[in-house]
Amino acid sequence: MGMRWTEDLATGVDEIDSQHKELFSRVNALLAAMSEGRGREHLHTVVRFLEDYVVTHFSTEEGYMARHSYPGMAAHKAEHAAFVRDFGNLKKDFETQGASSALAIQVQRRVCDWLVHHIGQSDKAFGAHLRTRAAGTGTT
Ligand SMILES: [Fe+2]
Repeated sequence: MGMRWTEDLATGVDEIDSQHKELFSRVNALLAAMSEGRGREHLHTVVRFLEDYVVTHFSTEEGYMARHSYPGMAAHKAEHAAFVRDFGNLKKDFETQGASSALAIQVQRRVCDWLVHHIGQSDKAFGAHLRTRAAGTGTT
């Protein structure tokens, strides 16, 4: 059980990759807590982490996209916005209804889906663009 960050997920930007690794480790901590029946107790930690993470991490990525004229920026930003919206709804449930195992599962599912589909595909494509530009211009 668990989600592994592997080199094939690297964008090639250390700042972004270390933020991705941090998210993987947070998800694994949640999965571990859930497997021990402590998902509900751990939910507060995860929600507090994610609320800062989405702001910091997405603005880091979008800054790179803007500086490197990434053609897929609009679509990529839309994925970030969708995650912010979904997380906002989950956070609202957390704040109004409190922690529950069911909510921990919903958060875990949304974030695991994010790791696979967004980091595994969209961020990877963005990383490939950055590397192509770096190879062509000699700068990053
Ligand atoms: Fe992204």
